[in-house]
Amino acid sequence: MLAIKELTAGYGQLRVLHGVSMHVGKGEAVAIVGANGAGKTTLVNAVCGLGPVTQGRVIKDDVDLTSDAAHRRGRHGIAVVLENRRLFGEMTVQENLRLAEEHGRAYRSANLQFTWQRICELFPLIAERRRTRIELLSGGQQQMVAIARALLLQPDLLILDEPSTGLAPKIVKEILHVLRGLRSEGMGILLIEQNVGVAVEITDRAYVMALGRIVHEAAGTEWQTFLNDERLAAAYLGKASAGI
Ligand SMILES: Nc1ncnc2c1ncn2[C@@H]1O[C@H](COP(=O)(O)OP(=O)(O)OP(=O)(O)O)[C@@H](O)[C@H]1O
Ligand SMILES: [Mg+2]
Repeated sequence: MLAIKELTAGYGQLRVLHGVSMHVGKGEAVAIVGANGAGKTTLVNAVCGLGPVTQGRVIKDDVDLTSDAAHRRGRHGIAVVLENRRLFGEMTVQENLRLAEEHGRAYRSANLQFTWQRICELFPLIAERRRTRIELLSGGQQQMVAIARALLLQPDLLILDEPSTGLAPKIVKEILHVLRGLRSEGMGILLIEQNVGVAVEITDRAYVMALGRIVHEAAGTEWQTFLNDERLAAAYLGKASAGI
């Protein structure tokens, strides 16, 4: 579904990604974990066309998207929930979502899985607060709107950059519940997450990133028990970020 090949990217003279290769299979849920500054967000931006790529390729369903602008990637079923959400604070929940809904319809009219009704079932808060300005919502509520907005683009691959950061455990649980449901319906998920405990809950496999490289890949039991292996977690993530 998604293949990233030998990706090199950076900012000006600073090289941040050094030949990153990875893939997400159809309907697979994959995590990327790694300490602060490892290059996770830079990778997300490169995949979504929001950051510069100096070398390498981004391929979705056998189509090379490397030189496509960000807005064109939505047509290929990629939607992203960015690290800082980037909602329009002065607009209401409904206004933010309607914009995405229109884009989604234009992108993938044959595949309208996420209707307004479905979104309200997934996140009842959205129906209740639809006329509220985004800036008046809590961080957790805003995160739900950000996920809903991504879904209205009708993706088959949802990329989330640290969706749990700064949120109360109860809200994280609610969001994980929704993501687990989407995954069981076959949605591809690429989850960037520093909290391994959260990532393990909804993904089958993970890449560990450090200093702009993939330094380890964990799947199956190794991934499910990643945190139990202190040596592994400490070596790749450092004690502080490995803990939950
Ligand atoms: N816009 C930018 N301009 C210059 N350097 C940047 C920019 N964004 C990130 N960097 C640098 O690139 C490196 C990787 O940053 P990135 O944000 O990709 O890491 P990250 O793994 O997402 O970290 P975090 O867990 O804190 O979100 C860091 O050294 C950072 O200082
Ligand atoms: Mg980041």
